[in-house]
Order: sequence, then C-alpha cells, then structure tokens
Amino acid sequence: MKTSHSFGGPWTKDKLNRLDKYLSAYMKIFTTHPKARNLITYYIDAFAGTGYRAAKAGNEDQGLFDDTDAENFQKGSAVIAIETEPPFNHYIFIETKRRFIEELEALRKSHPDKSIRIVSEDSNQFLKRWCKGMDWSKNRAVAFLDPYGGQVEWETIESIAATKAIDLWLLFPLGQVVNRILTRKEPSPAWSKRLDLIFGTSEWRSEFYKKPVQQGLFGEELAPEKSTSLKAIEEFFIKRLKTVFEEVATPMPLRNSRNVPIFLLCFAAGNPRGAKTAVKIANDILLKEEE
Ligand SMILES: C[S@@+](CC[C@H](N)C(=O)[O-])C[C@H]1O[C@@H](n2cnc3c(N)ncnc32)[C@H](O)[C@@H]1O
Repeated sequence: MKTSHSFGGPWTKDKLNRLDKYLSAYMKIFTTHPKARNLITYYIDAFAGTGYRAAKAGNEDQGLFDDTDAENFQKGSAVIAIETEPPFNHYIFIETKRRFIEELEALRKSHPDKSIRIVSEDSNQFLKRWCKGMDWSKNRAVAFLDPYGGQVEWETIESIAATKAIDLWLLFPLGQVVNRILTRKEPSPAWSKRLDLIFGTSEWRSEFYKKPVQQGLFGEELAPEKSTSLKAIEEFFIKRLKTVFEEVATPMPLRNSRNVPIFLLCFAAGNPRGAKTAVKIANDILLKEEE
C-alpha cells in the first residue's frame, strides 16, 4: 500500500504541471538538437518524497484530480519526471525519510527500463559533492529542489550554478519561512544563522533592518527594526541568484488562500550557451495562466 504523503497547498498541482512542461520541453531539445544529442541527461530530485502525493483535507485541490486512484493519489515530481517523454538518461532521487525511500525503491522496481538511483542522505551534502564530482563537459541536468521549508542552503545553489550545466527549479520559502523568521526586532542567533545559510550572506541584516530615526526616551540609540516587504525579500533573493547563474527567470509566487506568497517558484540556468533559451522557455511556462 502507498504511504500517504500530503504536502503543499492549492498551488501544488500548478507547480508540478509547470515542472512537467519544462521537463518535456528540455528533453525534446536534448533529443533533437544536433549539439545536445550526445550529452547525457540527468533529472535530480533533491526532495523527492514518495513519487505520489495525497490531497490534504480542505485542500482546494480536492475534486480536481485527473490522475488519481481511488485513494486520491496524484503524481508527485518523481513520477512526473520518470514519465517524461523522451526520457532522461538517468534519474537521481534524494530523500531522507525511510518510509519514503521504501516507496521510491518500489517505484524503481516498477520501472526496470529506467536508470534510477535513490540516495538516502541530506540533499545539501549530496548535491555539493555530486556537482563537484561529475564531468560537466559530457553531462547536463535539471535539478528540482522542492523542500517543505528553509532546508536549501545557499552553498548548494552555488555548487549547482558552478557546474554551468544544470537548470535549477527551486521552491524558495518566501512567506513560509523567510518572512516569518525576519521578526520585528532582529532574529535570534539560531534564526540569523538559518538566514545566513539560506542567503549565503549576512547582508540580509542591513537590507531588511533599519535603525529608527528617532532616539529612545533618554536619547539612546534604538535597536534596528524590520523594514522590508515580501517584494523586497524576493528581489534580494533573485539578485543573489543572478550573482551565480547565467540567467534567471521571473519567479512565480505560489499564494495561499489569503493571497500571501508562501513560496516563489524560481528557475535559473547556468550553461552559457543554453541559458537564454532555457530561461525563455521557463518564463513562457511561468507567466502563462494555468488552464
Ligand atoms: C515537499 S516534499 C517533496 C515533494 C515532491 N517533490 C513531490 O512532488 O512529490 C519534501 C520532501 O523532502 C524530504 N526532505 C526533508 N529534508 C530533506 C533533506 N535534508 N534532504 C533530502 N530530503 C529531505 C521530506 O522527507 C519530503 O519527502
């Protein structure tokens, strides 16, 4: 029996549809373009889950299923990637939860024709090592980083960008994590450390906190206070991506029912030759209203 893995929100189906479209477009190019045909292609899912997702009670997704079985299981990113036509040469699924890894093993067994590697390790650790160890003159990849929250570290993003061979899809936890831990007064040391890891710099502090112009009751300087917006945090992160990637797409906000952008669906491309085309395709996919 499948393990029930319920995650995300009303936007999840939309997010996965857009990923699906990109993977098909990417593989079409790689099988038809004469210069790309000889390259080996990888799909790497850094927060792979089980391959399926179950709808949450009260989720606006419910009742809209088109791929479900009787238990309301829909395809998750790993299954969507496996079913991409033309297929990738290799698939890597990273997951830390034992029960989910067992589901991924079952998925692998049911696709004996596909080269699927399952990695049971923290994806930041694995990706940094893997990106360094591959010969990127022969290989290309699409990486999908779809965490629950603030697990993706900047160093991992940097390693992906440094390959100049990986297209990155990333869920940035804008309202879900970052805006929440940017408390009115400066965050605690533990949260500050998490923000440093997410942004790869401590510049967020001077960017998002300002000393009040007024002084305290006795002329003393007041502690800095939060002075930013969701849009400014988005712009700061996109600017960071642009420091390491060749091209970055316009991110798509994934909003909750109160219209708050909980996540940003981001895309960045590192290959100097392919990045413009890749970002054009991603922008078309991201800016289009979902049918
Ligand atoms: C939002 S879910 C991913 C859903 C999946 N992309 C899909 O569409 O089916 C996040 C997954 O990341 C896993 N996870 C959490 N921390 C991780 C880490 N440090 N490294 C690898 N996987 C992790 C969780 O167990 C969970 O299955």
